[in-house]
Amino acid sequence: MEIQVHTDQRDYTVTVERGSLSKVRGIIGDDAHVFIVSDSGVPQKWKDILCGQFPDAHMHVFEQGEASKNIDVFREILEDMLACRISRNDILIALGGGVTGDLAGFAASAYMRGIRYVNIPTTSLSMIDSGIGGKTAIDLNGVKNCVGAFWQPYAVIVDPDILSTLPERHLNNGMAEAVKEGLIRDPALFALFEQDDWKDHLDEIITRCLVIKRDIVEQDERESGERKLLNFGHTFGHAYESWHGFGTCLHGECVAMGMMTVLNDPEIKIRLHNVLQRLQLPETCSADKEDIFRLVMNDKKADHGTVTIVQVDEIGNGHLETWSSEQIKERLEAI
Ligand SMILES: NC(=O)c1ccc[n+]([C@@H]2O[C@H](COP(=O)([O-])OP(=O)(O)OC[C@H]3O[C@@H](n4cnc5c(N)ncnc54)[C@H](O)[C@@H]3O)[C@@H](O)[C@H]2O)c1
Ligand SMILES: [Zn+2]
Repeated sequence: MEIQVHTDQRDYTVTVERGSLSKVRGIIGDDAHVFIVSDSGVPQKWKDILCGQFPDAHMHVFEQGEASKNIDVFREILEDMLACRISRNDILIALGGGVTGDLAGFAASAYMRGIRYVNIPTTSLSMIDSGIGGKTAIDLNGVKNCVGAFWQPYAVIVDPDILSTLPERHLNNGMAEAVKEGLIRDPALFALFEQDDWKDHLDEIITRCLVIKRDIVEQDERESGERKLLNFGHTFGHAYESWHGFGTCLHGECVAMGMMTVLNDPEIKIRLHNVLQRLQLPETCSADKEDIFRLVMNDKKADHGTVTIVQVDEIGNGHLETWSSEQIKERLEAI
């Protein structure tokens, strides 16, 4: 299945196909030099399948984990690209999860004022969410995603077979974003998670999420309006994530708790509760409420004492609301 993405910066194709990792050379259809970036946690067998198609390519492997999304690793990638004489016409390939995509995408955006990069996401979160959209970033002094660029990929290749090696906690973590997309845009997607056999529908889940994200990104490339809907569960989720320390509680897990915190409708809350139980995702957080309040109000989306919240009163139909600081406080006291 191919999904076309049109953006101001570039048009590109997302290929979703089992076995597509073996066909990267053909899909790119280019004989440019390639430079591959991956992390130490991506299983060797996936690296071998990719490298086998590009015998001359250099692979830069950095230490797995969010802690690597920093300026030192960013610089090391750029230095390695320079040492390998990567030119403006060459292609960077990112093979990994969201950390790899964010770091490598940012390196591609900066190197020689921007070279093409191909994203091959290998986690559920990156296949569903971070793999498309063109947001790239690193963390700085503990502030997440604080330095980055909008840089659209040249192509995205999604091979669901790669998920076969992903630990269950990470698989479920990414699914929190799929549940979110179902709630804001796609009742049929949400309904897939209300069945015990949801894992038999992975390809459909990924494709539905990519189409939703594509449609939203195309309408709103730089996150001024429609794209904010994708932040459902993220206002409180980001606060939970920074309270726990990045990496302790995974992003999707915090989004799951954030969706439960913000939802008003009791029936939707019960349905979400059942889905989160099935996915072994957390619903409540032991974090200090005063701390969470401060973190929510300091979030970059907070504006003059009010916060834009995404709400879902009907499954498939998310909308934006403005909450005052009192409303945030009351909600935290109520949970
Ligand atoms: N750019 C965006 O739009 C966007 C959106 C959401 C999240 N993000 C970013 O994504 C990052 C999180 O991404 P993530 O959850 O993919 O984490 P990750 O990239 O750290 O991957 C999770 C772990 O799984 C390992 N791994 C990757 N693929 C594997 C596989 N197939 N089999 C076994 N192990 C595998 C990795 O080595 C890593 O240890 C965060 O930094 C977040 O800020 C970016
Ligand atoms: Zn998210």
